[in-house]
Amino acid sequence: MSKITAFGTYTPEIIIDNNYFEKIIDTSDDWIVSRTGIKTRRFSKEEEFASDMSVKAVKNLQENSGVTISDVDFIIVCTTSPDHPMPNVASRVQCRLGIQNAGCNDVYAACAGFIYGLHLAHGLVTAGINKKVLVIGAEALSKFTDFEDRNSCILFGDAAGAVLVEPSEEEHFIAFNSGTYGDFGHDLYLSFKKDNINGLEIIPNGKIIQNGKSVFKWAVSNIPIKIKELVQKAGLTLDDIDYIIPHSANLRIVEAIAKNLDYPVEKIPESITEFGNTSSASIPLAIAKSQRNGGVKSGDTILMVGFGGGLTFAGVIVKWSL
Ligand SMILES: CC(C)(COP(=O)(O)OP(=O)(O)OC[C@H]1O[C@@H](n2cnc3c(N)ncnc32)[C@H](O)[C@@H]1OP(=O)(O)O)[C@@H](O)C(=O)NCCC(=O)NCCS
Repeated sequence: MSKITAFGTYTPEIIIDNNYFEKIIDTSDDWIVSRTGIKTRRFSKEEEFASDMSVKAVKNLQENSGVTISDVDFIIVCTTSPDHPMPNVASRVQCRLGIQNAGCNDVYAACAGFIYGLHLAHGLVTAGINKKVLVIGAEALSKFTDFEDRNSCILFGDAAGAVLVEPSEEEHFIAFNSGTYGDFGHDLYLSFKKDNINGLEIIPNGKIIQNGKSVFKWAVSNIPIKIKELVQKAGLTLDDIDYIIPHSANLRIVEAIAKNLDYPVEKIPESITEFGNTSSASIPLAIAKSQRNGGVKSGDTILMVGFGGGLTFAGVIVKWSL
């Protein structure tokens, strides 16, 4: 059995408002707010990468909990915007934090990454393979954004969130689900070399490219169903869930999920308005923001669901204890 025993986040200092984009592309603050809900996002400095933000999120986790991390024995970094493909970001974090004897692995599951990381950490701990697992969602998306593409560049932000998963006498991970719709692979991608997915032509320019309409439609039609399936799998009803925390991809997606489930939108914490779409960091940021505003608290049953490039999704229901 396992639980989350510590939690921290990091957001870079540079705040980018929507006026920034009015100067570089044909757009407006009104359009961005009405279509996405985003008012500001943060960009990392030129020399600040996913590993740097990971380290800062873990330092915040330590400040929040006073926990020792020198004996962490596995590090999972969930990212779609690594410093480089090799070595992985987790290895950089191990080195920078001076952690000895830790296995290190990156999870590449785009905006579902953080939840896949939780699945893996729970599995490693409950199988008795590891005792102290750091799961970090860290994104330097601004370094992979095409600032000439007005359909996508307005969406993304940089940030990191981290949790520690440890053995527990009581199970705090209640239910899991995941799945992938690989036939939508070409609708959201970041390619350096290969110029096709499923035989369909793509642009291998090292930038995030998406068919926003298709991803939007897929998310609003599938994610509510997956949430219902997960709640059912746990033997619960939506009334038993104190907060649903979906990936903050777009405020309209969050609102559509609430409407479809007939679930109060006030009980769906989001990070999109202040921080933009931060991919695998968006769920930790939403929890931290909710906690600051007197929302998520110890003892709450929360359902988290990530979704994105793949197209893939992963959900988990957790008894939050922080
Ligand atoms: C990208 C997204 C915000 C676009 O919103 P939308 O309401 O679907 O907008 P559309 O794509 O229908 O575009 C509507 C019009 O606005 C225009 N437009 C697109 N981006 C614009 C921008 N930044 N500013 C002004 N106009 C813009 C389009 O060109 C289009 O014009 P047209 O009708 O003349 O062709 C939305 O589709 C989205 O958020 N999708 C999901 C993306 C996502 O979550 N990605 C990550 C997954 S985890």
